[in-house]
Amino acid sequence: MLHHLIYHSYATSEITAPFIEGILKECKKFNLKNDISGCLLVNQQQFTQLIEGEQASLNKIFSLIKADKRNYDVCLIENKIIERRLFPMSPMVYEVVGIDDFNKIGAKGKTDLSFLRQQPEQAALLFGHVKKLMEQEPMRQGLWHNARLGPLA
Ligand SMILES: Cc1cc2nc3c(=O)[nH]c(=O)nc-3n(C[C@H](O)[C@H](O)[C@H](O)COP(=O)(O)O)c2cc1C
Repeated sequence: MLHHLIYHSYATSEITAPFIEGILKECKKFNLKNDISGCLLVNQQQFTQLIEGEQASLNKIFSLIKADKRNYDVCLIENKIIERRLFPMSPMVYEVVGIDDFNKIGAKGKTDLSFLRQQPEQAALLFGHVKKLMEQEPMRQGLWHNARLGPLA
């Protein structure tokens, strides 16, 4: 049965392009093999990630992420059954979000991702918003494919 899992965490060191590139490379390998898709959001040295797939695969990767020294204070926001994937197009898309995006989902006055730790509904809204942006602006879907980060292939 298909599940999604959403968590929030803090980066241990500054989030740079090579830092993200390293994570996305690992994502591609494991996620493709385990039929996991998802979206990694970054803002102000913080992560919020949605991963989708079979529960056993999600548990496996979530254990690895919790033990990963590149982040800390990993907080599970939501783990639930879903009917279909939100990001079937990729083993992991990547997006930088900010105040404009928080405003779009009605989270006025929020300045970083940490409010999502107590707000699973808003976390789901934010991922829905990012998905919509990617659909409206196809180039955005490949943001992490651009010159800054290079393709994962
Ligand atoms: C914020 C964050 C998100 C991550 N997301 C994933 C992921 O979706 N899939 C994945 O395989 N690894 C992910 N990783 C990396 C894993 O924690 C772990 O390092 C990796 O799977 C181990 O790969 P290895 O056993 O080949 O060294 C993430 C790491 C961080 C810090």
